[in-house]
Amino acid sequence: MDLAELNKVANAMVAPGRGVLAADESAGTCKKRFDAIGVESTEENRRDYRELLFRSKGMANISGVILFDETIRQRAKDGTPLAKIIEQAGSLPGIKVDKGTKPIPFYPEEVITEGLDGLRERLVEYRGLGAMFCKWRAVIDIGPGIPSYYCVKANADALARYAALCQDENLVPIVEPEVLMDGDHDIDRCYQITELALKALFHELYLARVKLEGMVLKPNMVVPGKKSAKQASVDEVAEKTLRVLKECVPAAVPGIAFLSGGQSDLDATARLNAMNRMGGGPWKITFSYSRALQAAPQKAWSGKVENVPAAQAAFTHRAAMNGLASMGKWSPELEKKAA
Ligand code: 13P
Repeated sequence: MDLAELNKVANAMVAPGRGVLAADESAGTCKKRFDAIGVESTEENRRDYRELLFRSKGMANISGVILFDETIRQRAKDGTPLAKIIEQAGSLPGIKVDKGTKPIPFYPEEVITEGLDGLRERLVEYRGLGAMFCKWRAVIDIGPGIPSYYCVKANADALARYAALCQDENLVPIVEPEVLMDGDHDIDRCYQITELALKALFHELYLARVKLEGMVLKPNMVVPGKKSAKQASVDEVAEKTLRVLKECVPAAVPGIAFLSGGQSDLDATARLNAMNRMGGGPWKITFSYSRALQAAPQKAWSGKVENVPAAQAAFTHRAAMNGLASMGKWSPELEKKAA
């Protein structure tokens, strides 16, 4: 392991004004997104859509792109590997390496993320294909009687085993313990479960001897459930999210890059901005969004070649707004002026 190199890559991923584009939707998730815009989810359509993002000006605000197995092997229309196009745009290619979730026996409604078997060999291959970092997502749901501590601990253990393997193969692990925002729970319950998940995670990372200087944390923000009767202000989300992170995340971690998790584009930008405006923490705070970066360009594109410039403009706009938010320099006025 070359910790200095891992630290350099991790710092580049969270450099001010930039953040990560999560473009690692599995074929199933991609089909869901394409169905919503009336586009058939063929390998070529998935390639064309992602190519338009990677060739847009918005890449100036994108430090790294998380790819799916299919995408890191794909070539653009002109034959250039998509990973090369990302590099040429001054960004780092990364790869999702988990294999999705499976139900945990005897723990109804709870899941464990799989993908550790054969992981070292896959990491070696992905490095050869250009990957500089990886992602593994654990999913913790909130509901009546859940999450169980067993689920939280098993997922934290898998994340730590994944992160150690990545570092041993000189790849920066993005460590993602996602507490879902489904459900009707309030913001304080989200706080409590996020705290539990992060405390358990950093304990397991310590036991696995993961070097915190060589990783990026990808957490959820502390938000009320989507169906909660009591929604929260931008400042309340920012304050509570910062507080839980300061309680749980050691200063040695170079950066925190949030998932959007189903927040609106504007909420995801405004809340990130508020955290940085409030002074942030000992780590950099930025984005690693999928939906909150891609909803607008997907809609603008709708599978039509003639819409490519409009889709690229929509992506460039959202990437720029989130780039400003990563420095606490975004405002609703700028959002309107730039639109
Ligand atoms: P969302 O921003 O859509 O939550 O996706 C981020 C991600 O990569 C989840 O693993």
